[in-house]
Amino acid sequence: MKKLFLTAVAAFYLSSVNAQTDANMGIIPAPVSVVKASGYFTVGDNVVISALPSDMKIAQTLKEFLASKGLQAKIVSAKTPLAASQKAIVLNNDFENKLPNEGYQIAVNGNRVVLKGKNAGLFYAMQSFLQMFPSERVKGVYSIQNVEINDYPRFSYRGLHLDVGRHFFPMSFLKKYIDVMATYKLNNFHWHLTEDQGWRIEIKKYPKLTEVGASRNGTIIGVYPGTGGTDNEVYKGYYTQEEAKEIVAYAAARYINVIPEIELPGHGSAAIAAYPELSAFPERDTYIGADWPWSGPRTGKQVQQTWGVFDDIFVPSENTFKFLENVLDEVIAIFPSKYIHIGGDEAPKKYWKESEFCQQLIKEKGLKDEHGLQSYFIQRIEKYLNGKGRSIIGWDEILEGGLAPNATVMSWRGEKGGIEAAQQNHDVLMTPSTNGLYFDHKQSTAEDEPLTIGRNGKGFAHYTKVYGYDPVPAVLTAEQKKYIKGVQANLWTEYIETPAKAEYMIFPRVFALAEIAWTPLTKKDLKNFSEERLSLHLAKLDRTGTNFWVPVAAGQPDKEVVGENHLIELKSPIIGAKIFYTLDGFRPSENAAEYTSPIKINVPQGKKKVLKTIVITPSGKRSVVAETVFNNGASDSKVK
Ligand code: ACM
Repeated sequence: MKKLFLTAVAAFYLSSVNAQTDANMGIIPAPVSVVKASGYFTVGDNVVISALPSDMKIAQTLKEFLASKGLQAKIVSAKTPLAASQKAIVLNNDFENKLPNEGYQIAVNGNRVVLKGKNAGLFYAMQSFLQMFPSERVKGVYSIQNVEINDYPRFSYRGLHLDVGRHFFPMSFLKKYIDVMATYKLNNFHWHLTEDQGWRIEIKKYPKLTEVGASRNGTIIGVYPGTGGTDNEVYKGYYTQEEAKEIVAYAAARYINVIPEIELPGHGSAAIAAYPELSAFPERDTYIGADWPWSGPRTGKQVQQTWGVFDDIFVPSENTFKFLENVLDEVIAIFPSKYIHIGGDEAPKKYWKESEFCQQLIKEKGLKDEHGLQSYFIQRIEKYLNGKGRSIIGWDEILEGGLAPNATVMSWRGEKGGIEAAQQNHDVLMTPSTNGLYFDHKQSTAEDEPLTIGRNGKGFAHYTKVYGYDPVPAVLTAEQKKYIKGVQANLWTEYIETPAKAEYMIFPRVFALAEIAWTPLTKKDLKNFSEERLSLHLAKLDRTGTNFWVPVAAGQPDKEVVGENHLIELKSPIIGAKIFYTLDGFRPSENAAEYTSPIKINVPQGKKKVLKTIVITPSGKRSVVAETVFNNGASDSKVK
């Protein structure tokens, strides 16, 4: 029997995708409400920006943006009356205080664009306006459809994390990362500053933390646990306190809070290499991870050269607590954040079990076991920080042995920890590795993906998985759900050596993160997100020299298809990107056939054919090769 397989495709043409035609005006994350009206605000050189002195920074950013579009805008005082015919972008600082926290409104109507909001709200109104601004001028003007937008966030905490311990990232990249966050209305930058492989923040009282702890003598080659080799190259870097303050100020100007993470009691090898007395066994080597087949010379404590989890953690001695309090004093002075992240994850109890001192302490304090000791450790640190007016966030292991009274739990090993914490009336931030929020996971299963942390089918999260995640677990009661304060994605950098690769890993998933963090559930729409807005935003990135993961062509089946005749209709995932394909088994490139119309595939009885496609963007970025097998009764697995 002959079968004709038609692949479902969206009923619109790429050339028509733009912010004005999109139901959400091209805005990511999708706003709460977008109501379009007929007519346009057409903007040329005659536009003014009307603003109060308090909003001059936003006015200036708008002016610079318009200049980048070739338009000369003039800033005028909000007190200057505007003629009805004057084209104007008016900044309205929500004088009546009517809008929800971080909320904003945009009204585009004839000769006026009114951006209304207070503080972050006005800033976000501007971000949305920049996103809805047309990319092309037509007949000398840019035309923005009349529209009313009303918007505010679903969650107060919208986070993105960066691990600078495994690999160090320059200040310029941190600022770019923060700019991305601001564009997509993310408001908490979780800066993971200390690790086994490097201590990255200057602490003046303990100079060896950076003299020794910020430098390692090599880095594992390939996939952990590897084959026993590192590259033997010194790898180092840290941020001075002045630089950290610069990042805090840069972020604050964009309404982003910076949460520093100082890991304890685990992931402390770099600090222990600098100050071995922080270990329960100062004389022991530290560089052997639990499953690291190391056979090299033993050189005592060292900053780790390989990934994983290490047994040598901070000993809970008075000396260690004094050290950590002194470190935290300096950290507090740099970071105004209410929250300080104290880690708490992946702290093996082996050394504490073997240590007479730790066993004695467990008895003295009447603790149950080593987990009780970890809880004691975390609670002491919490008490110290609470005394300084700060609160702690810890990874979900801080539940083990009993939660510190005021702690916020960051749920990373799935949702379980978050659910338990909410049931215990503790605030929760959801960042489950199982639900697409670990951006170090690869974005496809194709062989073309670079080295990432996932192997054997694990550690794979396409952006649609991120998009599909709802941070509020259904098992919680309405009261418990209130403890879910937000959601975050994490970028662990064992296998992310460069800014370009970091960009490749976060885009486009960060768009999906922004949407699940901000947009009400009722407004989420994967089809609109994937086919319209993602395409627009990736096209923009492509023009600005930012790296990203290029989605494969839409419409290509991702599973084997059976039958004789097939008609495959594909769609480029990015405006202006081309699709090339082969049916001869070779890998496609720009030398292959270019997709221009639906592909007819005829598979003779007893045979298979493979469609291989690649997407290439205007700037030359390439997707992985996507393959579909078409099988018409072939019994073997061999493709003919
Ligand atoms: C973690 O990924 N170890 C928090």
